[in-house]
Parts: sequence; C-alpha cells; structure tokens
Amino acid sequence: MDRQVAFRVFRFDPQSDSEPRFDTFTVEAREGMNVLEGLFYILENLDGSLAFRFSCRGAVCGSCAMFINGAYRLACKTMLRDLKEVTISPLGHLPVIKDLVVDMRPFYRKYESILPYLLPASEPPLKEYPQSPKQRHAINEMIDCILCGCCHAACPIVWTNKDYLGPAALTKAYRFVADSRDGAENERLALVSGPDGIWRCHTIFNCHEVCPKYINPTYSIQQLKRMAISRRLHFWRKNK
Ligand code: SF4
Ligand code: F3S
Repeated sequence: MDRQVAFRVFRFDPQSDSEPRFDTFTVEAREGMNVLEGLFYILENLDGSLAFRFSCRGAVCGSCAMFINGAYRLACKTMLRDLKEVTISPLGHLPVIKDLVVDMRPFYRKYESILPYLLPASEPPLKEYPQSPKQRHAINEMIDCILCGCCHAACPIVWTNKDYLGPAALTKAYRFVADSRDGAENERLALVSGPDGIWRCHTIFNCHEVCPKYINPTYSIQQLKRMAISRRLHFWRKNK
C-alpha cells in the first residue's frame, strides 16, 4: 500500500550557495521501496536538480553511500519500510561537490598509497596461481570490500586527522599482506606503519559497525599491528 514519507535532504552547491540547507520532500512510497528509489522519486517528480550518486542499485558498487537517519549506509540497501521521515546528508569528511555527491579523490588517494595490487615475490606462473581453500579463506572477508567509504566517514580519527589512512585503505593493505600470492609483506608493513597509519587507530569499531558488507576493518588493522610489532622484534633481535 502506498504511503507518504518525508525526505529531508542536504542541499549545497558550492558554486552558488553560501551555506548548506535541508529541503523537505514528500515521497509517495510503494511497498518494498528503498531510500535510493525515494531519491529517484524526488529527482523525477519534485526536483530535477537534486544530485546524488548511484550505479548498481544492488549493494555491489558502493556509490550510494550516505548518512541516513544517523548512520552511514547504502541508500539502495536501506528500506523505507516503517520509516515516516528520512534525513540524508552526504558522506562525511570529504568535500561536497553538490548535494549528496562528494569528492572521493582524498579517499582514493589513500587507497592508492597502499599499492592495492598483487606484488608477487617471483615471476607470475604461466597459467594461474594455485591457492588452497585455506589460503583463499584467509582473504575472503576483505575481498568483499566495495570501497563505499562508509567506514572512512564513520571513523573519528579521520575526523581529526585528514591524513589518517583510514579503515578502508588499511583493510585493503591487510588483504594483500594476508594473500598467499603476494610477496611484499615488508614493503606493505612499512607503508602502513608511518605516522598516519595503523598506530593512529584507537580501536573504536565504528568502521565495523557501519560496514554494509559486514567486514571488520578493526580486525585487519589489529592484524597489521601484530605483524608490524613482530617484524620490528625480529629486526631488533637480529641486530642486537
Ligand atoms: Fe565500505 Fe566496508 Fe569497504 Fe569500508 S570496509 S569501504 S564500509 S565495504
Ligand atoms: Fe577508526 Fe575503526 Fe580504528 S573506527 S579508530 S579505524 S577501529
């Protein structure tokens, strides 16, 4: 049965607006509708100038990550169900390009800095890399990351230190360190052990709470910390 849902949506165009505001729209919600479909309803029926990102509509691409009713979520995965009101802002701690669209470049720069690709120890095999089920299992969770940015936006350390690599990049770093096909553990641990890396994480767990793919970035960061400490101890013992 159709019913009405009030959408309070963050609006800001840095080209023309001096400050942000919230606009309220009434959305005619159908059974089974999600927040992203509500935004489409506004775009098609009420205000064609509303800007937001989307792509797959199936919680696979991560493009529609937003701050919805007090939590970072994917709009396509957030059902309207019993909601009477929905308040939406863009992902936090990234510059707003327009309305709900943010500039993801600072986020991707951090991701690129951890070298997010396999660095094999020797020449790759001619056919394929053999990997046992156990070896594959070790990276299963981290491989599911869709780079939506929810964890990055929810982390209070990112709020206070814009250079902190953040949970998404660090999870990806651990994904490669834990990959049996990768041979650059030392280089990767050195990359994440700098002043804006793993030691900045205060184990706050917001990243784990918000992840729409149920990944636990806190675990990855803790694993990296453990490995960095044993590497240092090993080095110290060898040279004392
Ligand atoms: Fe999104 Fe989860 Fe990946 Fe963070 S770890 S970017 S919340 S999918
Ligand atoms: Fe931030 Fe997650 Fe660490 S919220 S402080 S990266 S545990």
